[in-house]
Amino acid sequence: MREKLDLLNRRRAESELGGGAEKLKQQHAKGKLSARERLDVLLDEGSFVELDRFVTHRSTDFGLDQNRPFGDGVVTGYGRIEGKLVFVFSQDFTVFGGSLAEAHASKICKVMDLAVQNGAPMIGLNDSGGARIQEGVVSLGGYADIFLRNTLASGVVPQISAILGPCAGGAVYSPAITDFVYMVQDTSYMFVTGPNVVKTVTHEDVTMERLGGASTHGEVSGVSHFTMRSELECLDGIRQLLRFIPSNNIDEAPRGRATDPASRREESLLDVVPDHANKPYDMHEVLSRVVDDGALLEVQREFAQNMICGFAHLGGRSVGIVANQPAVLAGVLDINASVKAARFIRFCDAFNIPVVTFEDVPGFLPGVAQEHGGIIKHGAKLLYAYCEATVPKITVITRKAYGGAYDVMSSKHIRGDINLAWPTAEIAVMGPKGAVEILFRKEIAEAAEPQAAIDARVAEYVEKFANPYVAAGRGYVDDIIDPRDTRPRLIDALEMLKGKRTKNPAKKHGCIPL
Ligand code: HXC
Repeated sequence: MREKLDLLNRRRAESELGGGAEKLKQQHAKGKLSARERLDVLLDEGSFVELDRFVTHRSTDFGLDQNRPFGDGVVTGYGRIEGKLVFVFSQDFTVFGGSLAEAHASKICKVMDLAVQNGAPMIGLNDSGGARIQEGVVSLGGYADIFLRNTLASGVVPQISAILGPCAGGAVYSPAITDFVYMVQDTSYMFVTGPNVVKTVTHEDVTMERLGGASTHGEVSGVSHFTMRSELECLDGIRQLLRFIPSNNIDEAPRGRATDPASRREESLLDVVPDHANKPYDMHEVLSRVVDDGALLEVQREFAQNMICGFAHLGGRSVGIVANQPAVLAGVLDINASVKAARFIRFCDAFNIPVVTFEDVPGFLPGVAQEHGGIIKHGAKLLYAYCEATVPKITVITRKAYGGAYDVMSSKHIRGDINLAWPTAEIAVMGPKGAVEILFRKEIAEAAEPQAAIDARVAEYVEKFANPYVAAGRGYVDDIIDPRDTRPRLIDALEMLKGKRTKNPAKKHGCIPL
């Protein structure tokens, strides 16, 4: 027995060497942790249970028969985050550049299947050059096996991807199907293929950073959801996210600490919205005063900043916050803002997280660039996402709710459950000035004093339409509230809606305008 135990221990130790000491040194020199060190940081201490550590590849081509490292370049298994079960894989760049082939893929598929069967989040730590070139189509097949599982698991268990190195090909398409992508500044990259191939195909000279660095995907493409300054911050960020989301589509999200009193009225909310309708203010000022302990975990914080999406707790309950941001582009709905919010709402709906909307929106952004970019179909995604969502939906209109954007932002007509307005709300087809210029063009042109004519008509319009009372008179908002009561009213509404039961018609799936 002892001899056999010694052999086991030797082989276990060998399996932990990865690509060897020299390669590990290079990994550290780049500011990157090893695959196993990452798991140590991510998971509760001592909770990791490894599976398939002795798996090796079976390939013989290109000298691979001389190099069969245990584990085949990926560490897989399960562990706990704050006591909650999670399944994980962590790719080892020191072994064949973390590239994926048959054995490597089958290990990942095994933990993905376990995650779905046991209703636990799947977390992938990606550090891979994509399909292993030496195994050819078998590598491609391995990725396809993973893509299929990513897709079938979507909406069943949360899937989280951290990009922790230069990731290409399949190593970006699998994360792209998952729910949340984390990137790290200066060490993580995502591209279909790297700068060298780009140069050959399109003759463009581009750096790794510009092509697919964390800023590119955090600010420009919107491919990633969280940009972190270091791997340690990234792994801790994943732990934070799990405080807000459930383990699967049946369980409830974890409750927050609920030490912030539900009855807390917030005096300073009276001073956030400026008197002048066109003056910007920061919607974060509202959100931080309303949610538990002022804590909002923003998703895609650097992308489409005219829309704020994030998780928070309200009275201890996890909620998804969707808010127009008047401080950026006046909070207008453009392509990026629509897509950002639509995706976030669909995640919340799939995982039974109520959606709380804060609305101050002048409408959809007009113009050639937006029309040519497809604002009609992208805006429709947001409309679709709100319409199909059956989770509790609560809306607070702080100021503008103009035009189509009034309908879109979780209006009563599309099954908003509780819609509240502040006294500063303006709910109308468009802003006073635009409306007057259309309705009274002739009158203004013929007036002896055009500006006086405009002012008079604007005052009349504001009195008639730019207020919340017309909507409230029809029951399109359920109540006009004192802004100071926003938090208690929201918490009360969430409590009232906790047993909400609504179903969409039976169907295979809808056809969201992708
Ligand atoms: C086999 C690979 C590999 C791969 C890297 N390596 N990528 N081995 N298959 N796909 C190996 C290298 O040979 C090297 O081995 C080690 O990993 C480190 O790679 P380097 O190039 O030295 O590292 P670096 O300079 O940091 O560059 C990393 C990289 C680059 C940007 C990822 O290696 C690269 O461009 N790789 C190819 C990316 C790619 O096009 N993949 C195929 C995608 S197709 P040694 O022994 O020298 O240390 C795909 C299809 C999926 O994935 C389907 C999608 C829908």
